[in-house]
Amino acid sequence: MFIINELSEIVNKEMISFHMPGHKKGKIYEKLGYINVLENLYKMDTTEIIGTDNLHSPEGIIKVSQENTAMVFKSDYTYYLINGSSCGIQSAIMSVCNPKSKIIVNRDCHQSVINGCILGDVDIEYIPCEICKNTNILKGVNVINVIDIIDKNLDAKAILLTYPTYYGMTYDLEYICNYAHSKNMVVIVDEAHGAHLGLSEKLPKTALEQGADVVIQSTHKTLPSFTQSSMIHVQEDRVDLDKISNMLRITESSSPSYLLLSSLELAVDIYENKGKELMEELLDNIQNFKNNVNKNLEIYSTNDKTKVFISAKNIGLTGYELENILRKKYNIQVELSNYYGVLLICTIGNSTQDFISLETALDDIVIKEFKSTKLDNIKYPVDIPQKILTPREAFYKTKKSVKIYDSIGKVCGESIVPYPPGINIISPGEIISKEIIDYLKFCSSKGMVISGLKDMTLNFIEIIDLEHI
Ligand SMILES: Cc1ncc(COP(=O)(O)O)c(C=O)c1O
Repeated sequence: MFIINELSEIVNKEMISFHMPGHKKGKIYEKLGYINVLENLYKMDTTEIIGTDNLHSPEGIIKVSQENTAMVFKSDYTYYLINGSSCGIQSAIMSVCNPKSKIIVNRDCHQSVINGCILGDVDIEYIPCEICKNTNILKGVNVINVIDIIDKNLDAKAILLTYPTYYGMTYDLEYICNYAHSKNMVVIVDEAHGAHLGLSEKLPKTALEQGADVVIQSTHKTLPSFTQSSMIHVQEDRVDLDKISNMLRITESSSPSYLLLSSLELAVDIYENKGKELMEELLDNIQNFKNNVNKNLEIYSTNDKTKVFISAKNIGLTGYELENILRKKYNIQVELSNYYGVLLICTIGNSTQDFISLETALDDIVIKEFKSTKLDNIKYPVDIPQKILTPREAFYKTKKSVKIYDSIGKVCGESIVPYPPGINIISPGEIISKEIIDYLKFCSSKGMVISGLKDMTLNFIEIIDLEHI
């Protein structure tokens, strides 16, 4: 048994988790006394039989549970999702935008947004994203840019924004919602990283509080539910609930997991009854950690204080190196690393001891790994490439591999995502520039992670074969 053996080893080693899922290896369930429920969970794995209701047409226990959750999260209607936020995002796009229509989207969107547009044959107009020069942290959109793009694309059906960003940055979503509504656009928010925001006044306001119409949250990322369990919250005024239900019947399994549904209910129970108190404790722990952390390291301020970005560039370590050292030598796993640093996802599942262990490990790393050479800064190409095909048109075209420098001026056939900052530097259907190729070559020479490429050695790149259009 390969998967089970590796996972058992991680469990036995009692690794400290600063990554998703938010229950942190179940520690929160143990702490709050939910273990009796969980011990029997495997026996609760069932299907639609008498009494268990049906996620796709709820009339019984699932209906009541979703209604309670809608009250807790202050939405008109809440759907439980068992295929992650990805299926929620795709369903939201396809239920609001008809084929051949247009949606406005932040460039640093998640892949599921582009996939939703491929499935639904929806064209995308991108809003450039703001990036911190020193860290490549994604800061979100600039409101002035958003207004400008809305004004230039009044035929768009909807605007979809990531809020907060993966790195915990936010912006004035309320202003954008009001403006988009005044132009008859629906506002869809990918709040995959913000399911916990309602737990404290010290955190940014939720997307629903700011007027969004459809909000998709990965409950599993920042609250204590199982991986792949998510939610959509809907405010009914501008959205057709029947269309969303129909789309979810297409994008989700017809045999929804009752384990995932149960874990969503557990997360809501914890959120409602203990969440605020636990969030206060977490925010205190994070503040103490920031006060005490070794001064040779830099911690960047994020609007969502539960996201912590630590850079060791002043001691000459890349984020990739820091992630590896923390995991291999100190048994601590972070959420992600980029060239400049590592990102922690801290949730109400983390204990005070987790932060003390991290602080001690970092002190040790500064002493043992100090390098006198500092890291160079790198400049990310921010211009959005020219698009000549919609995501769906590009998806169905024939592709061919060419030598990487021969691809300049050609139409890209793959989605290429370098970390940092973790967004599509180029998408299928867009024109490849020399600046982009130079950046990719630079990334690869520094050992950065680049995902999406068919040829990971970066000698060849997939382009769209225009002769076969
Ligand atoms: C910003 C963002 N949106 C959506 C998703 C998709 O969420 P899920 O993993 O719940 O499908 C992710 C996943 O990492 C994400 O980072």
